Amino acid sequence: MEIRIFRQADPEYLLSLLLRYRILRIPLGLTFSVADLARDKADVHIGAFSGEEILATLTLTDSGHGALQMRQVAVDDAVQGRGIGKALALYAEEYAKKEGFTLMHCHARAVAAPFYKALGYETIGDEFVEVGIPHYHMQKRLGAVL
Ligand SMILES: CC(C)(COP(=O)(O)OP(=O)(O)OC[C@H]1O[C@@H](n2cnc3c(N)ncnc32)[C@H](O)[C@@H]1OP(=O)(O)O)[C@@H](O)C(=O)NCCC(=O)NCCS
Repeated sequence: MEIRIFRQADPEYLLSLLLRYRILRIPLGLTFSVADLARDKADVHIGAFSGEEILATLTLTDSGHGALQMRQVAVDDAVQGRGIGKALALYAEEYAKKEGFTLMHCHARAVAAPFYKALGYETIGDEFVEVGIPHYHMQKRLGAVL
């Protein structure tokens, strides 16, 4: 497995969008809006690949004030629970630290909150509804680059 960074203009983006659509949108009866895709333009995208195949993806949005938002975290359901999501999130955190960010935060689906908790994220505030399902705002302070 190889983890690498790409941008919206790169060929990997289409693969990541299809994975996000299958894992995050179809189960909720949702699609992507033009605004969603426009938002992806400024993001840094990260993927885990096995040859030509994408196994997992996430995107990072600069929230300002040294914070990055981890969004659209999706692991192919055929390979969930094997540490790929964790490896991708840790890669994103290392990237963030190298770029000088001090905080990673996310809107975690309540069903996925234990995943972020296992990675050291803490819950901030109360549960809220986004894309029709319960979420928590979670965050992790990032230590210095080793
Ligand atoms: C949630 C998701 C990203 C986790 O990725 P994954 O590759 O399946 O998880 P990993 O195997 O890397 O798990 C890492 C750790 O989180 C824990 N974990 C992962 N999902 C969990 C869950 N649903 N409940 C409890 N613990 C969970 C694992 O036990 C593991 O703990 P450990 O390091 O102590 O052993 C992935 O399952 C997924 O894409 N789910 C569907 C889409 C989704 O909900 N995305 C998140 C949107 S906010």
